[in-house]
Amino acid sequence: MISIKIDAEGIFEPEQVRIRKSTDKEDFGRKGLFRADSLFHPTKLAITFAGEKIIQMAKEHNIGIGTLSIHGGQKPDPSTGAVMPPIYQTSTYVQEAPGKHKGYEYSRTQNPTRHALENSLAAIEKGKFGLAFGSGLAAIDAVMKLLAPGDEVIASNDLYGGTYRLFTSIFAKWGLVFHFIDLNNEDEVKGLINDKTKMIWAETPTNPLLRIFDIKKLGQISKSHELTLVVDNTFATPYLQTPLDLGADIVMHSVTKYLGGHSDLVLGALVVRDEDLAGKLYFIQNSSGAICGPMDSFLALRGIKTLHVRMQRHCENAEAIARFLISHPAVKKVYWPGFPGHIGHEVANKQMRGFGGMLSFELKDDAIERAFTLVSSLKIFTLAESLGGVESLAGHPASMTHAAIPREDRLKAGLSDSLIRLSVGLEDAKDLVKDLDNALKLATE
Ligand SMILES: Cc1ncc(COP(=O)(O)O)c(C=O)c1O
Repeated sequence: MISIKIDAEGIFEPEQVRIRKSTDKEDFGRKGLFRADSLFHPTKLAITFAGEKIIQMAKEHNIGIGTLSIHGGQKPDPSTGAVMPPIYQTSTYVQEAPGKHKGYEYSRTQNPTRHALENSLAAIEKGKFGLAFGSGLAAIDAVMKLLAPGDEVIASNDLYGGTYRLFTSIFAKWGLVFHFIDLNNEDEVKGLINDKTKMIWAETPTNPLLRIFDIKKLGQISKSHELTLVVDNTFATPYLQTPLDLGADIVMHSVTKYLGGHSDLVLGALVVRDEDLAGKLYFIQNSSGAICGPMDSFLALRGIKTLHVRMQRHCENAEAIARFLISHPAVKKVYWPGFPGHIGHEVANKQMRGFGGMLSFELKDDAIERAFTLVSSLKIFTLAESLGGVESLAGHPASMTHAAIPREDRLKAGLSDSLIRLSVGLEDAKDLVKDLDNALKLATE
């Protein structure tokens, strides 16, 4: 039972917003590149520090993710009282005199709709600072720009392909060194750490095999070696796990997926607690400029407001399908973190509040043609890339997301020819099961 007063100003009151003194601003000033004032003006502060207040209040009043998804860091639009932030479709803002303005100068640096989203992101991830970008990859790109040539990153060997491509095809050329390993192998992780190591990059659950890494353990290793732990929380969302609570320094999202939730936008996000780290990331966001527009910010905010309701149904439907598939005679294996035999099931039980809406399975007859027939016979599941929307999607990694990997390497990584990945949507579970049952029949006859 939540007992908290939600007044006309939203979930926090204006006086709770801490305004930094001008002397503090100097700490963040990157002179000659941007004016400290333009980044740390009162409006921006109101938004960035709302996350801190929310985190405190969430703890004190035991506020749940549902309340945070709807109200976290939000307040009515100050100029009109609009409950939802307007789409501030503007690139610039009037100045009464040079430097005299309402806190907004140029929309790459600050935009009220984007700020409302960034504030919501900070609140739901129990962070203090949120940053929104034009895509998940743009957010990852910003994180990599914290590093310098020669720095080393330890990353999981089961990463989203686009992240792997960005690391190996772009940042490796700029002198960053990446080690891709099994992050569950603690000895291997520790063995790789040297004085050039700066970051651990983890995605959990992974795509498409839903492997689970122990965020708490990785957080302890990171802390004892002064590394930055980044967790891509796209698959789990804060409904299922909050990595900052488990020791991560940065949470990253492809908001395109579950947070947006309706397959109608491409957007990325970062959330942090540390002020210094936030200052560096805001600086990169403004300097590199890979921000999202106000319309997409609005859509993402609208999506987040139903995150908890959607995630609950995603989890229920995925469980129903996992249990149907595991008992089907044509199915060899089902990858779903809720099964006791699944790699990382014990950790998932500890660090997640449910097992998510994603699962993969392979056929007993591991033939690519059978997988093709299956995915082409589905009527409710749509054959498409991406995930996390209200509609169920099916994908065939061998010919779609992982087609660029040579077959031998792909098989070594555990991605068989017949592996099919499902993003289970919000339709009626019985209809989804029927659809799969029918397609399995056609594929195996
Ligand atoms: C786990 C994960 N991280 C990052 C990304 C990249 O996000 P975006 O497509 O929004 O750039 C994706 C995209 O599929 C993803 O699945």
